[in-house]
Amino acid sequence: MRGEEVTLKDGRKVVIRPSRLRDAQSLLRNVNLIGREEVYILLDHVVPNLEEERRWLGTFDGVRTVLFVADADGEAIGSADCHGGTYAKTRHVGGIGIAIRDGWRGVGLGRMLMERILEWMRARGFKKAELAVFGTNGRARRLYESLGFENEGSSRRHVLLRGAYEDEIHMGLWLQD
Ligand SMILES: CC(C)(COP(=O)(O)OP(=O)(O)OC[C@H]1O[C@@H](n2cnc3c(N)ncnc32)[C@H](O)[C@@H]1OP(=O)(O)O)[C@@H](O)C(=O)NCCC(=O)NCCS
Repeated sequence: MRGEEVTLKDGRKVVIRPSRLRDAQSLLRNVNLIGREEVYILLDHVVPNLEEERRWLGTFDGVRTVLFVADADGEAIGSADCHGGTYAKTRHVGGIGIAIRDGWRGVGLGRMLMERILEWMRARGFKKAELAVFGTNGRARRLYESLGFENEGSSRRHVLLRGAYEDEIHMGLWLQD
């Protein structure tokens, strides 16, 4: 799988490429920085454990699972992953997750990472992409809608965000007819 240098709307350049084991440290940093913001992802904090993170990175096979990172001078400042369904009945579906570090948002990187993941899913023969997003996350929802994702339902008051119960929205995109 190729690595591709892209230019963001503010002129900065990053390389979008499949993850490597040496991304473990910066990906741990990302999850804990973004988790600390409390309102975007389920995880709040993971205890940094490089061995475990490398083991997790080693599980992405590029066939049924993939993790793309945005590499800024060797630091993975954002990532998008896909996990293919593991049952025969859901093998056609892939679940997507995406997170970009503060300071790198709003300049086109999310769209590029999502397009790269969807391109990979189409090439691997997936028929449907799915994801879940907190109802309060307007930026993410606008991005997904602009890519063609549709709301498929909500889990009402499913997450507790800074003291308020909020909905989690399930979105899907049919990839192939
Ligand atoms: C959600 C996220 C992936 C979006 O990526 P991004 O790089 O910030 O977004 P982009 O710059 O590619 O913008 C994509 C779209 O989002 C919307 N958007 C971008 N910045 C926005 C802002 N400040 N306010 C509102 N909408 C905004 C626009 O519709 C934009 O469309 P455009 O490409 O036509 O301008 C990223 O902000 C992020 O990782 N946030 C924290 C973690 C998170 O929320 N993850 C998703 C959990 S479901």
